[in-house]
Amino acid sequence: MANRIFPTTRLRRSRSKSFLRDLVAENKLSSDDLIQPLFIADQKESQIDIPSMPGIYRHNLDSLYAETEELLKLGIKAIAIFPAIHPDKKNPEASHAFDQTNIVCNALQGIKQRFPEIISIADVALDPYTDHGHDGLLIDGKINNDETLKLLAQQALILSEAGADIIAPSDMMDGRVKAIRDSLESNNFVDTIILSYAAKYASSFYGPFRDAVGSAENLGNSSKKTYQMNFSNIDEALHEVEMDINEGADIVMIKPGTAYLDVVHAIKSKFQLPTFVYQVSGEYSMLALSIEKGWLDKNVMLESLMCCKRAGADAILTYAAKQIASELNT
Ligand code: PBG
Repeated sequence: MANRIFPTTRLRRSRSKSFLRDLVAENKLSSDDLIQPLFIADQKESQIDIPSMPGIYRHNLDSLYAETEELLKLGIKAIAIFPAIHPDKKNPEASHAFDQTNIVCNALQGIKQRFPEIISIADVALDPYTDHGHDGLLIDGKINNDETLKLLAQQALILSEAGADIIAPSDMMDGRVKAIRDSLESNNFVDTIILSYAAKYASSFYGPFRDAVGSAENLGNSSKKTYQMNFSNIDEALHEVEMDINEGADIVMIKPGTAYLDVVHAIKSKFQLPTFVYQVSGEYSMLALSIEKGWLDKNVMLESLMCCKRAGADAILTYAAKQIASELNT
């Protein structure tokens, strides 16, 4: 490599004008890269505030459709739907997850009818529906892996039938991608994409999400550490991703995002598969609240998302998707 010596080389030359900086920019962010997570609930009010997530609401179905229309206008082509289920409908077996008239199935159908072009992503996990708040079945005080797999395969099928383009298992049971892929293939859903939350860590950054979907009180002091990953590990993340690819995942995701970009980089470099990042609720809220208070400039949000791209993310799930897309459009 040539010697890079001052003053032959002056790196500030290409930083001197805004247009120059754009020309030499190594990464770009556009609405093509952004996926908006949306919370829905069976409620009279069109939107209900989520106090721990500034600027984010729980929507009823009419409001979900209105929001989706706005997102499409801003160039956002994918949404991920998360339900807050009424406590009366939660039980140990998560039976409401298998009711084809539940709010998620209704939302997926309604979205498909109104906006056939949008990509809808449906989470597969039992936690919105269990009264203990866990992602799997609790049997003899433990989350039972193999019994849970049968339910996840069934849930994935119901969501595909309702019109989900992408099925996103977020439960971290071993073998769930294979169980879901087998169930989809044998029921002729050969084009349904599996976006696997492949490296999902047991993280305190999920706190505001659990407020939003109302699972925090169900979970109480119980942790998800027997199925979600230990945040000290990275080799294990590669292992998780390899298994999910072998089992039939089309896209893999790392979660949380911003604090785990070393994991994103390692996975993208090793597997060269579509790799998504989830900037999770706590990561969003830290920035959104500081922006709201005037402690951080609002550009910090774009910066954090660009860092995800620089680490190797092909797309980002972020609660800031709408806001950022509208800034990019102006
Ligand atoms: C549940 C699920 C969680 C998130 C997405 N799906 C929470 C959890 O695992 O407890 C977190 C998303 C966020 O914090 O924004 N299966």
